[in-house]
Amino acid sequence: MKIILGPASTALAEKIAELTGCEKVPVAYKTFPDGENYIRLEGNVQNEHVAIVQTTCAPQDSRLIQLAFIAAAAKRNKARKVTAVVPYLAYARQDKIFLSGEGISVETVAQMLKAAGVDALVTVNIHAESTLSRFPFPAKTLSAIPLLAEYFVQKGCKKAFALAPDKGAMYIAEQAQSVLQGEAGHLEKQRDRYTGQTSQTGKGLNVKGKAVIIFDDIISTGGTIVGAAKILRELGAAHVYTACVHGLLIGDAEKRILDAGVEEVVATDSVPSHVSKVSLAPLIAKALKARKSG
Ligand code: R5P
Repeated sequence: MKIILGPASTALAEKIAELTGCEKVPVAYKTFPDGENYIRLEGNVQNEHVAIVQTTCAPQDSRLIQLAFIAAAAKRNKARKVTAVVPYLAYARQDKIFLSGEGISVETVAQMLKAAGVDALVTVNIHAESTLSRFPFPAKTLSAIPLLAEYFVQKGCKKAFALAPDKGAMYIAEQAQSVLQGEAGHLEKQRDRYTGQTSQTGKGLNVKGKAVIIFDDIISTGGTIVGAAKILRELGAAHVYTACVHGLLIGDAEKRILDAGVEEVVATDSVPSHVSKVSLAPLIAKALKARKSG
């Protein structure tokens, strides 16, 4: 297997190559004055199983097209198999029809990748695992939650309360709980499908005097975590931290979260930023090693 260093995830791809012992294939890339993308593989991929490491956080459309171009270039240059390693998969939240007239964006992305030459996909904490059945090739999601929880164990937060911001994310809190060895619970969250506005409640939650870590797959505007932190403060939590896999942190999201009394924001390098304190490299390297000969 060879690791193709996607322009959006070069540092992560380098770490994965080091941990797997795979040869690296750099990618030359540029954007033309009119905004169009150009890529060129700077290595031989003939008869190789290649893993393209390319996240698709903003600017997601450009990064998706780069991924498609790289896959197509790999196939044109006679790669035997193309696995797309996409730590953050854009459009995964539009995974079903919520309102009539919509499309299923993630399905279109999957079909586009297939048409470009992708044969398999590895992603991390896709918003809903059921989405994987929409892919026209084998697709797998890994969970980085145990790695995030381990970060807090190392920080001295063993036994902290693992909180999910809504019932649907309770499985995330439970994964964290199995590492933290403390309690777990969830808030109730409702979303208005037209305005996107959410509201949360913390009925029945006993966090008084406790250290609480709010775990989520994504932090985008930070609204969910700000709302959760407010409830935790009202319930008397002693310390509040937050961890997510994909720290999109749009605008001043981090500042708003910290202003809401959260002591630390932790994310992975699926979306590279100064809060990417946990690397996905060991998790992805392990998954790739299992397929290295395939
Ligand atoms: C939604 O269901 C996701 O799991 C996250 O809770 C959501 O994307 C976070 O968005 P925001 O940071 O804008 O509240």
